[in-house]
Amino acid sequence: KTALILNGPNLNLLGTREPHVYGSQTLQDVQLLCERACVANGFVADFRQTNHEGVLVDWLHEAGRLHAAGDLAGVILNAGAYTHTSVALHDAIKGTGIMLIELHISNVHAREVFRHHSFISPAAKAVMAGFGVNGYALAIAGLAGMQSA
Ligand code: DQA
Repeated sequence: KTALILNGPNLNLLGTREPHVYGSQTLQDVQLLCERACVANGFVADFRQTNHEGVLVDWLHEAGRLHAAGDLAGVILNAGAYTHTSVALHDAIKGTGIMLIELHISNVHAREVFRHHSFISPAAKAVMAGFGVNGYALAIAGLAGMQSA
């Protein structure tokens, strides 16, 4: 089954973007880390990034079709700043019935107040935050633990 790992706005800047918050690993490093974690857990990795909200909506719909076909292990979504603004992403997750883990590299709850609210959390199965980029590997392992026989 496929583990779909979706990244939203500004995550293409990983490595040079506020390294004291997000670390020095690039998005390409994170992709490699995810691909290794997926192999270790028996998943096919599908890793993507976009700066566009509607593209994320389209990808969640694609995940819904994979889910309906029985081919989706789950989705790991780092929606970046859209986490705090996007009713459209909330509705897309709810509308597709996919199993989704919300992920943040940083501990959003220890940061600015505007990062404390998430439109994703009420539609997510689980939330991962504050583990740095290693959180992606932890979330993939967590997804493996949630698969039913
Ligand atoms: C983030 C946290 C968000 O608040 C921020 O807008 C991001 C990255 C994280 O991974 O810690 O772009 O999702």
